[in-house]
Amino acid sequence: MTTHAPAPTTDLDLDLDLEERMTRDELEALQLKRLQWTVRHAYENVPLYTRKLDEAGVAPTDIRSLEDVHLLPFTTKADLRETYPFGMFAVPMSQVARIHASSGTTGRPTVVGYTTGDLDRWADLVARSLRASGVRPGMKVHNAYGYGLFTGGLGAHAGIERLGATVIPVSGGQTARQVQLINDFEPDAIMCTPSYLLTIADAMETAGIDPRATSLRVAILGAEPWTNEMRHTIERRLNIDAVDIYGLSEVMGPGVGNECVETKDGPHIWEDHFLPEVIDDDGNPLPDGERGELVFTSLTKEAFPVLRYRTRDLTRLLPGTARPSMRRIEKITGRNDDMIILRGVNLFPTQIEEIVLGIETLTPHFVLELTRSGQLDAMTVRIERHPDLPRETCEAAAIVLAQRIKVHIGTSVEVKLEEPGTLPRSDGKYKRVYDLR
Ligand code: DLL
Repeated sequence: MTTHAPAPTTDLDLDLDLEERMTRDELEALQLKRLQWTVRHAYENVPLYTRKLDEAGVAPTDIRSLEDVHLLPFTTKADLRETYPFGMFAVPMSQVARIHASSGTTGRPTVVGYTTGDLDRWADLVARSLRASGVRPGMKVHNAYGYGLFTGGLGAHAGIERLGATVIPVSGGQTARQVQLINDFEPDAIMCTPSYLLTIADAMETAGIDPRATSLRVAILGAEPWTNEMRHTIERRLNIDAVDIYGLSEVMGPGVGNECVETKDGPHIWEDHFLPEVIDDDGNPLPDGERGELVFTSLTKEAFPVLRYRTRDLTRLLPGTARPSMRRIEKITGRNDDMIILRGVNLFPTQIEEIVLGIETLTPHFVLELTRSGQLDAMTVRIERHPDLPRETCEAAAIVLAQRIKVHIGTSVEVKLEEPGTLPRSDGKYKRVYDLR
């Protein structure tokens, strides 16, 4: 016998944006209209896109269906660097209300701009993301994403205000002070990177505060890859819900997509503003469900429209759940530029994270060091031993770690135990890999 569950009627239904309640057909009609506007706007106002579309022999009027997005050329980080700093802005500077930039590990930063309309929509989408995370008007939100050129701090800030919650604009760093403010101001929610929340939890313990006993109920975590094992570790350690927020500067900033707290099954992409695709290594579009590189076309951005921006983030598109008409992405656990190739075996740092967090007698504090002797690459996992366990227990755990890496990933690594508190701690995006080759 099949039973049909009635549509859920939680208080969430009352608050949802109109677009979150659209049918898939209504949403796609809106996307097409916005896609046509975006392509025309980019073609007419950004010389790089005029040239790229002309070279591809595509005119804005060729976009007649959503599938026609595949006719468009890709945009890459190199395009942004080439046009540094403002060459991809589609409006005169007098209409640019704010600039952000991502530091990048090499070369010039990538610079992005926003009109007041863009800032307005961004605040709406972060507010929507927070609502999906379970934050409600009247709650207090401790914002520990960095303020400044990074989109995290100010992006989250505007969304918290827009929702009608109270923002505590702490920014990143000064961890002891973060702990004190959480203790004194009693926020309901915290926003920061997952690795930084672990740093904060450690600092709580140092200050004699039980991380499970604070006022915090939910953490909205993103800006770096993290695994479901990390989610469980954080949830157990702090007695909270840990929810995934996704975004990137080139496409907007935080709030391109967000998980719903009731399902925690990967971020829903806010498809009324961003058209996602997944492509293979050769740039061919993949069907939903297949894993590849995530690509976005913005649908409403005025100052900085992007056509088929290649994110380098690896994931797959999945059907909507808590927001049935908007697709989800599987939790992003790697980027194609994070991939480590070790003696022919491909691996992502998050695969090691998953294994480490599965061994109770290990700490989550580890870094990966890549070295070369002669022709041979080697990887060392440097991991802090557990401060409260006997040395022999920690040494046994290190052996188990090396064995599990060998079995699950297929490569031998050296595991080196470090003293508690000696490895660098996160204060934002964590640098996990040190390539000494
Ligand atoms: O990190 C925007 C952001 C701020 C997102 C705060 C969420 C929270 P960028 O500095 O441009 O922007 O870095 C973007 O970070 O392409 C991913 O590789 C990674 N990333 C961001 N969110 C997630 C996430 C911000 N939830 C790059 N899971 C992206 C995994 C993420 N990776």
